[in-house]
Amino acid sequence: MNAPAPVEPTGDTTSDWALELTDVHATIGVSHILQGVTLRVPRNTVTAMLGRNGVGKTTTLRAVLGLVPRTGSILLDGVPIERETTPRIVRRGIGYVPEDRDVFGGLTVQENLRLAERKGGEHHYDRVFELFPELRKRARQHAGTLSGGQQQMVSLGRGLLNDNRVLLIDEPTKGLAPKLVSEVVEVLERVRSVATILLVEQNIAAAHRLAGHVVAMTEGRVEAQGPADELLADDQRVRELLGVTDSHREERH
Ligand SMILES: Nc1ncnc2c1ncn2[C@@H]1O[C@H](COP(=O)(O)OP(=O)(O)O)[C@@H](O)[C@H]1O
Ligand SMILES: [Mg+2]
Repeated sequence: MNAPAPVEPTGDTTSDWALELTDVHATIGVSHILQGVTLRVPRNTVTAMLGRNGVGKTTTLRAVLGLVPRTGSILLDGVPIERETTPRIVRRGIGYVPEDRDVFGGLTVQENLRLAERKGGEHHYDRVFELFPELRKRARQHAGTLSGGQQQMVSLGRGLLNDNRVLLIDEPTKGLAPKLVSEVVEVLERVRSVATILLVEQNIAAAHRLAGHVVAMTEGRVEAQGPADELLADDQRVRELLGVTDSHREERH
């Protein structure tokens, strides 16, 4: 059998960080969208990426995957990946759960998972079904008939099926009703126990519940990063970073 060439093991001992971006720039058309993003993602926790709409959060995730042209350094477990192609970066162990979830509504849960199987690696159906017993029960159900939270499980399940070092998850609670937001947060709490996650999340309460580390972006740059306990403790700072107007502050100026 012609198995794909194995990806060289990466040097786990050389870096404290699962993912490390230094001075990453990305230009799309004439827009200089990422203007020197430098950030660190510690292992075995959730890093929440906060920031107003349009500051470049999604573009940062796409830059890691090589889906937008970019310069700068990107290390996965201490190993440079910025010169590699997207398929190779993915094979090194980065799972992507995009904003629109990309679940195929006309296919069953099982078919959606099977399509995600990465060639040449192990497929952890046990882990997916242990974390999401609902998916085993609904394996033959069309994904289009699932609730928003269940569809998010399918999307996350695809990321967990393969051996990933990091999952990049883009705004999983966006546009969901409050009840579904809690459902998705509960789902992410389960995923957190088995994965390192970089999570774009505008919902501060959700970020608070999930994150151990925070990265706050403003206009193409990282404005602040550090332990969630420190960064999320200062309500006013968080409101500033998210662009929520604080009337008291306005009055002072
Ligand atoms: N494919 C693209 N073509 C042109 N502009 C884009 C493209 N993708 C993103 N942008 C622009 O880049 C900026 C950052 O977008 P994005 O990374 O999606 O922000 P966020 O995820 O923080 O809301 C926005 O001004 C957006 O309009
Ligand atoms: Mg976005």
